[in-house]
Amino acid sequence: MGLQLGDIAPDFEAPTTEGPIKFHEWLGNGWGVLFSHPKNYTPVCTTELGYTAKLKEDFDRRGVKAIGLSVDKLEDHHGWSKDIEETQGAALNFPLIADEDRKVANLYGMIHPNASDTLTVRSVFVIDHNKKIRMTLTYPASTGRNFDEILRVIDSLQLTDKFKVATPVNWVQGEDVIIVPAVSNADAEKLFPGGFKEIKPYLRVVPQPK
Ligand code: BEZ
Repeated sequence: MGLQLGDIAPDFEAPTTEGPIKFHEWLGNGWGVLFSHPKNYTPVCTTELGYTAKLKEDFDRRGVKAIGLSVDKLEDHHGWSKDIEETQGAALNFPLIADEDRKVANLYGMIHPNASDTLTVRSVFVIDHNKKIRMTLTYPASTGRNFDEILRVIDSLQLTDKFKVATPVNWVQGEDVIIVPAVSNADAEKLFPGGFKEIKPYLRVVPQPK
């Protein structure tokens, strides 16, 4: 069975474009997004990495560090990063793991043999401050991911960790949220003194708590 939500993200040591890291130590007390891409010097991956570099302030604001991975050589990562800067208008500002021996890829199940037995798929692991895996996603090589969606999920996770709410379809920061079913109406009145709307007994909506 592969890694599941709630599992502790496995620790590892690996070479990266920012020097060797011990993953848990590198995460420190913050959140992380570990994501694999299939191969260096490929077009979709180039756009994904450039876009992630542009999101640095958005990741920082949420206390999240990004780290990429492919099974390419470290020298290739350094060469390709120049192309990323030139073509995407943003230099890499997060480490890229050079996982030549596929140690990390295998540990995280990033190689799906029926898709490719040599290259990693587009995996994403969102890891919280307790090193728990909170979100995973897997995209095929041909489809670039939506990194704004990854930030949206992190916003939802960080909000719902703090308050007894869940976020509805397509929710983004600032929109109304849902009171979780485990909270009674009597408790909801105390937790949300500004009031809430009961559309159905199981569907109660409240402005996003601050
Ligand atoms: C790409 O990043 O463009 C790509 C990588 C592997 C297979 C197909 C596309």
